[in-house]
Amino acid sequence: MAGQSHFQQLEKLGEGTYATVYKGRDAYTGSLVALKEINLDSEEGTPSTAIREISLMKELKHENIVTLYDVIHTENKLTLVFEHMDRDLKKYMDTYGNRGALDPKIVKSYMFQLLKGIMFCHDNCVLHRDLKPQNLLINSKGELKIGDFGLARAFGIPVNTFSNEVVTLWYRAPDVLMGSRNYNTSIDIWSAGCIMAEMFTGRPLFPGSSNDDQLLTIFKIMGTPTERTWPGVSQLPNYRHNFDMYISQDLGTIVPQVDPIGLKLLNQLLQMKPENRVSARAALTSPWFSEYSSQLGNNQMNNSDTQYQNQYQDGRGRGMHQIA
Ligand SMILES: Nc1ncnc2c1ncn2[C@@H]1O[C@H](COP(=O)(O)OP(=O)(O)O)[C@@H](O)[C@H]1O
Ligand SMILES: [Mg+2]
Repeated sequence: MAGQSHFQQLEKLGEGTYATVYKGRDAYTGSLVALKEINLDSEEGTPSTAIREISLMKELKHENIVTLYDVIHTENKLTLVFEHMDRDLKKYMDTYGNRGALDPKIVKSYMFQLLKGIMFCHDNCVLHRDLKPQNLLINSKGELKIGDFGLARAFGIPVNTFSNEVVTLWYRAPDVLMGSRNYNTSIDIWSAGCIMAEMFTGRPLFPGSSNDDQLLTIFKIMGTPTERTWPGVSQLPNYRHNFDMYISQDLGTIVPQVDPIGLKLLNQLLQMKPENRVSARAALTSPWFSEYSSQLGNNQMNNSDTQYQNQYQDGRGRGMHQIA
């Protein structure tokens, strides 16, 4: 950790839930960075857990994860120095999409990169927990990198002092919305499914306005879960026996832009029952990504760490670092 900054602060790049992000220039090398500033004027003082979590993120080095170069800690401010990216995926869709919708080739490329980043996180026992277009960063080389490894947890309940951005529920899995606390890697997979549909259509798939409305918005498309379709669902804290009953719809009619092989993957990502959701590793072997399969090096896919796979299969995912 550096004591003082040799970064020149340039224009604002974005505002999120917890921080303001500026473009910066490294005075020594001249290269661009992103400076994520977090005010620390809470009564709790320096959140040491946050710093521990941040050091963990510094170790998370992958081509599809935004690199954290440094952390500058002053009395009342924490500045995270990140690799500079051109914009987030939300802004990209708004600017270059056809009413937000992206070209299917771009959707495929971004999904491949997103799933590679997620696989790396999960292989390293890290759950992101807040995957959404605003937290995915892209550059002019067509690269997509996962950002914002949510300081949410580390910094307590979001207070939104920095911006008007509301903590969105749109990408949150139904098991989490129903109060499940033993969720695992499958929560990030649900978000990836929501993001895939949104890139195709240009519109959020499940734009709910509150926890309950979010659930109903999901049920209207995916069907209301029952003990028959999801054994154990009625034991979840926020489950209600008087949920409005909806039958599931064909995602192909909701996302008409997707081809049949992509639709199969989308269905595997958007499974209501968390144990039925595909893992990132398995999703990457979908025939939808056949043109990219040569990019999946053996060292990436033949992971000797079978513990991860077992963890996924029995749906527990213990020992995960929840840095979001
Ligand atoms: N490395 C980066 N390069 C370019 N823009 C960035 C970068 N990191 C963040 N941003 C922009 O700033 C916004 C907020 O950053 P984020 O890390 O998501 O903060 P928060 O935790 O407050 O949501 C992002 O949605 C994006 O628009
Ligand atoms: Mg964010």
